[in-house]
Amino acid sequence: MSLPILSVNELAMSFGTLEVFRNVSFSVDRGETLGLFGKSGSGKTTIGKCIVGLERPTGGEIRVQGANILDMGKKEFRKLRPKIQIIFQHPETSLDPRMKAFENLIEPLKLHSGLKQDALLKRGEELAELTGLRPEHLARYPIQLSGGEIQRIVLARIMALSPDFIVADEPTSMLDVSVQAQILRLMQKLQRETGVSYLLISHDLEVLRKVCHRIAYLDNGTITSIENIKRDVKR
Ligand SMILES: Nc1ncnc2c1ncn2[C@@H]1O[C@H](COP(=O)(O)OP(=O)(O)OP(=O)(O)O)[C@@H](O)[C@H]1O
Ligand SMILES: [Mg+2]
Repeated sequence: MSLPILSVNELAMSFGTLEVFRNVSFSVDRGETLGLFGKSGSGKTTIGKCIVGLERPTGGEIRVQGANILDMGKKEFRKLRPKIQIIFQHPETSLDPRMKAFENLIEPLKLHSGLKQDALLKRGEELAELTGLRPEHLARYPIQLSGGEIQRIVLARIMALSPDFIVADEPTSMLDVSVQAQILRLMQKLQRETGVSYLLISHDLEVLRKVCHRIAYLDNGTITSIENIKRDVKR
């Protein structure tokens, strides 16, 4: 048995006297999509932020392939960080409004890949193709793109880092139903092709039931149940 890519054990979070959750435990296998369902304010986004290191929980463990990220030094965590990514509900906040879409797309490659200019442009074009972006999209500024197109750019940017795990926090809730389905299909394709795992956060059970292998229910500060939807996780 290989280790789960992510395991969260007895995670707890309070902001001052407000206890958001306690004893939150779940794990996610390679190539798996785990849904996280809960009502507004239940702490879903906070759990996602803890996983990528944007918040520090008040208790518990977050293990990435066995190693607890909360015990890691800055240097060790920085090495791991490109492998664990997050997508937000308002994806435009992840893009630089002053740069055209293609420049936004290749920015992480510039920072992390060490590729030379020609190879970098080629890889950028491959990623654009992988995520269904056309040249006319790539020449526009973020403000000139639709919500679905922006979410594709954000996914392409993230895939540039070859992530193992993506927290997708309501990635499609700002999109209309047909575009929502396109983006969810794209995420499933990326998973089939790369084996990436997702924690898909949503308060739309219909969406979660369509794409998740399992769904964790967050209620009253804890995970009350984990439902099996599909058992065949492709690795
Ligand atoms: N940095 C913070 N400081 C203080 N309180 C916070 C902070 N971040 C979140 N909270 C509080 O923690 C609770 C959980 O917030 P969170 O955003 O995780 O909920 P959520 O389940 O994602 O909700 P939604 O479905 O509306 O997105 C809320 O009551 C929120 O006000
Ligand atoms: Mg939220």
